[in-house]
Amino acid sequence: MTAQKTVFIKTYGCQMNVYDSERMSDTLAPLGYVPTTEMADADLVILNTCHIREKAAEKVYSELGRIRVMKAERAQTGRETVVAVAGCVAQAEGEEIIRRAPVVDMVFGPQTYHRLPALLDRVAGGERPSETEAPKPARRSRVVETEFPAEDKFDHLTPATAARTRSRGVSAFLTVQEGCDKFCTFCVVPYTRGSEVSRPADKILEEARRLADAGVREVTLLGQNVNAYHGEGADGRPVNLARLLARIADIPGLDRLRYTTSHPRDMDDELIAAHRDMPQLMPYLHLPVQSGSDTILAAMNRRHTASDYLRLVDRIRAARPDLALSGDFIVGFPGETDADFEASLEIIRQAGYAASFSFKYSPRPGTPAAEIEAQVPEAVKDERLQRLQALINAQEAAFSASLVGRTLDVLFEKPGRMPGQMVGRSPYLQPVHVQGSPDLIGTIAPVLIEGTGHHSLFGRLEPAAQDPVRKSA
Ligand code: SAH
Ligand code: SF4
Ligand code: F3S
Repeated sequence: MTAQKTVFIKTYGCQMNVYDSERMSDTLAPLGYVPTTEMADADLVILNTCHIREKAAEKVYSELGRIRVMKAERAQTGRETVVAVAGCVAQAEGEEIIRRAPVVDMVFGPQTYHRLPALLDRVAGGERPSETEAPKPARRSRVVETEFPAEDKFDHLTPATAARTRSRGVSAFLTVQEGCDKFCTFCVVPYTRGSEVSRPADKILEEARRLADAGVREVTLLGQNVNAYHGEGADGRPVNLARLLARIADIPGLDRLRYTTSHPRDMDDELIAAHRDMPQLMPYLHLPVQSGSDTILAAMNRRHTASDYLRLVDRIRAARPDLALSGDFIVGFPGETDADFEASLEIIRQAGYAASFSFKYSPRPGTPAAEIEAQVPEAVKDERLQRLQALINAQEAAFSASLVGRTLDVLFEKPGRMPGQMVGRSPYLQPVHVQGSPDLIGTIAPVLIEGTGHHSLFGRLEPAAQDPVRKSA
């Protein structure tokens, strides 16, 4: 029998990292690793990192500083700790991480997670002679693995057991596409995740069925460029995202589908029609535009104009009038003038966002935009970010307020912070708080919205929901 060990995984960055951390955890389970929520208890600490902005990457080094102290304390009580850095910082910086932070034993990139058991053996110092034999004991060594292997990692990662899936809740992520070929001039993703690869449709359907069997009600399909999905179908012909969604929607139990993140250039007619025709597809779309200025959009290599984007939003809203739109914005991209920034405020006014994420431009090593001389001063970025966020927050508050008095179907996920409170999500992805029993978890029930909070809604269960045999609305 394998001795029990504990693993602590800290996840930074996007939802794909959340998904990847779960897969790493599942892949470690057969080796005897159980997850712990206390880093100081962990025999193996993995930081699953994000390189998108400088601040995200720097957080990793400050965490490694704390881990160095913890590892030394554990060593004093005779306990060893293996420290690993995974994710996009690992891919971007590789060896450099070990030079800067000698506490680190392993560095491995996002395409190598299926090799985790073998990498651990290498750190322990013994190559595993075969799958069944134990590794030969030898000297501990450091490991750096940042290649893009030829084999498909998804084929070699261990699927979650039903019990593990259940413990993660009723809403799950499912990565269908990875990497990006768009090369926006500010972005590290094409370098850290590699070129765009779509998983075969059957593999995705198999995983979606397993999720449904374990009680999952909502699946969010993930990809850095998810709407560019073009996986192989069973007949060898490519399947696009609209058709993949339709096949997943046929799986009993999966009542809610979402996908993120989309690029405006890849929103095809079939996908737009799916928002009209597929009741399982939730009326929420994350469609980043980044800027409202055509000059900046061109410099970003986004390959569309502001009016292309607004026309697209009109077409999607024609298919699904109640669609809640969310976006990403960058302020202070090199060369951004006051007029360019005003154009971003204008596109926000015209598109109307239910939610949005906005960032100050952060120059990333190796990306073309970082080389542009006309960098915008930090103080100007700060001021622009504040103005942009004030506008977006006002739009978000107005959208939430417009829902008061309406009845929304809520998928309940977990207990809230207050006694007797349960929390779920509206179709528009807002958290909704009600008074109710834990039996609600995993059910979709109608809620009369009575008030709004900070990024959330409050309401009352409609009487129909109190019938315990009612499973979904
Ligand atoms: N694939 C997605 C986004 C991935 S990164 C897309 O195409 O939209 C998430 C967001 O981080 C981006 O949408 C962008 O707004 C922001 N971002 C990426 N690189 C950045 C940088 N160098 N500085 C500031 N924000 C950045
Ligand atoms: Fe980055 Fe652009 Fe690709 Fe999105 S589309 S991941 S912003 S390069
Ligand atoms: Fe960050 Fe990598 Fe995701 S850079 S946003 S973790 S793809």
